[in-house]
Amino acid sequence: MTAKDIRSKFLEFFKENNHVVVSSSSLVPEDDSVLLTTAGMQQFKPYYLGEKSPYGPNTVSCQKSFRTSDIEEIGDETHLTFFEMLGNFSFGGYFKKQAINLAFDFLTKKLGLKIDYVSIFIGDKNVPQDQESEKIWLDLGIKPEKIKKFGREDNFWGPTGEQGPCGPTTEIYINGTEIWNLVFNEYYQDKDGQLTYLKQKGVDTGMGLERLATIIQQKNNIFETDLFFPIIEEIRKNKDVSLISLKEERIIADHIRGAVFLISDKVLPSNIDRGYILRRILRRTIRYNKLIGLPENFIIYLADKVIQI
Ligand code: SER
Repeated sequence: MTAKDIRSKFLEFFKENNHVVVSSSSLVPEDDSVLLTTAGMQQFKPYYLGEKSPYGPNTVSCQKSFRTSDIEEIGDETHLTFFEMLGNFSFGGYFKKQAINLAFDFLTKKLGLKIDYVSIFIGDKNVPQDQESEKIWLDLGIKPEKIKKFGREDNFWGPTGEQGPCGPTTEIYINGTEIWNLVFNEYYQDKDGQLTYLKQKGVDTGMGLERLATIIQQKNNIFETDLFFPIIEEIRKNKDVSLISLKEERIIADHIRGAVFLISDKVLPSNIDRGYILRRILRRTIRYNKLIGLPENFIIYLADKVIQI
């Protein structure tokens, strides 16, 4: 199954289950507390806080996302700067039971995948353990030893920026990789880190298309999927493969792809803010391009590949 088919299947599945399909928003967010769009929920942030959603209570999207937090990890099997995030969202509509059931049905029934294990929030002094999610997973047949419990670091998400909606999460793992993060937005965190209950509960889920494609296409890593392999091939065609490390070709492939998407959303290289992020990844791409002895200005051809894909 191509990544394009996976994307459509996801949107279609949630459309059939009463969600309105919303296009990806720009990588340049309206929410000015963050430099770039890092998650699918960002364009919907006001609706979690009670503003009326023009789409109704349930939406689904495939969101262009960019995270600098993982920049040093690029080159391994699963991390990227730019990625596409498949997500379903609810603002005062359904909550844990339906969210978990929908995710379970999509992965196991629609895609025929087997869940390795899941995780839930263990609880701390401010937020109780998520026993409701645990029970829902047990009812779906997940064995107790396959329900792991973690703290804030792993199983609590948000807010994006300094304040906003946030809540405990349940995560789904396949082939040892975290594939889907289901966030239950129950709280509002203010600038001082204080939590208060939101007036309405919300759901915000995110699943990396590249990781899902790796599993469905039975590849060893994201760079072997159809979202990346044409870029990797182009690099290999133009260079003695034995001289290139996997890490170097992956950094080039990730960064050129990220740069193309940033530029297409009108970011330009500069010394500050998001322009600096673009400048940094472009410089790194050019540096590695030189380092492994690819022809000068070769990244222009790689950019073409990204656009074709
Ligand atoms: N906002 C959560 C995340 O980015 C789920 O979409 O992981």
